[in-house]
Amino acid sequence: MTPTTLKVPPAPRVAPARKRDLLGLAGLERAEIVHLLDSAAAFKAVLERAVPKVPTLRGQTVANLFFENSTRTRISFELAEKRLSADVVSFSASGSSVSKGESLLDTARNIQAMQIDMIVIRHSSAGAPHFLARELDTAVINAGDGAHEHPTQALLDMFTMREKLGRIAGLKVAIIGDIQHSRVARSNLFGLTKLGAEVTLCGPATLLPAEIERFGCRVTSRLAEAIEGADVIMALRIQLERQRQNRLPSLREYAQLYGLTRERLAGANPEVIIMHPGPINRGVELSQDVADGPGSVILDQVTNGVATRMAVLFRASGLDPGAGEEDAGQAHPAHRADESWSESSRPSPAVPSTSPNRPRPSSPAPSPGGRR
Ligand code: CP
Repeated sequence: MTPTTLKVPPAPRVAPARKRDLLGLAGLERAEIVHLLDSAAAFKAVLERAVPKVPTLRGQTVANLFFENSTRTRISFELAEKRLSADVVSFSASGSSVSKGESLLDTARNIQAMQIDMIVIRHSSAGAPHFLARELDTAVINAGDGAHEHPTQALLDMFTMREKLGRIAGLKVAIIGDIQHSRVARSNLFGLTKLGAEVTLCGPATLLPAEIERFGCRVTSRLAEAIEGADVIMALRIQLERQRQNRLPSLREYAQLYGLTRERLAGANPEVIIMHPGPINRGVELSQDVADGPGSVILDQVTNGVATRMAVLFRASGLDPGAGEEDAGQAHPAHRADESWSESSRPSPAVPSTSPNRPRPSSPAPSPGGRR
């Protein structure tokens, strides 16, 4: 008997659509941020269906490279990818060949060689996603780089503010805590000022970066001043590891001066919403009753993270017809905090179109409302 030869026809590798990295909100135009928020709203509607899944990224593969610990961002990205029908591979630095000395670039090149379409990366070094975006053809999404940016966190925060309060322009947003080391604070500052919010940053002087005011925000070390009239109060995690750098006398003193309690919220707008990116140090940044109180939207932020990341992945795939450009790697554009954004001037449709401008034959026309 002659052996049977199995003939597998070569599957044509479709030329990838032009990639759209998401490296930070500093490099995104205001219209692009609004488009992502609108797109996230469409995806949120998908997630509320009986079968919360669409075929938008069928045939595409996403690699999640987490060189730093994560609970929310990692699970949220994985879920978003699966809801979009992408194939998903996940990587942790521990247990990988990074522990044998393999470099970030070699690791990423090897992953790209497996024909990965998108990379989501969290890394302790600021600029790691920008470096990969320059070196790879694969689209790169920043899931948090050092103390630099955490763009998807800020997008989900803005989405939640808009969902709860109906707008972003004109909102008074107080961000409280370790501003110096917070990538969440930086991305929110960039995004919120572009959308016309009034941002106040507040924390101990040792945790406030020098000259941060030039990005169009108010800065104070007085909590009562930051909270006065606030529509949104966002508490940041006090990074316990900073204790060793003597940035704080003690957590107890921080909690006494900057911890949010029900009494301290009295000066805020009565309808104020309380946000926190997590993980929370209860009794330090927030008292129990504030963390779990009626104004808290902390778990809504987590819920909204999935829809927001679906919008970001859709854009990164190159299939989102409403997506614009990003100035990759720019430090920071001039902010025009005085130029307020009007809800009526939205440039993009609320729901992504079903006719992508760069179709991939292997991918059906993507739409959050597409076939299931
Ligand atoms: N908000 C946030 O980035 O949380 P994780 O570190 O758990 O991902």
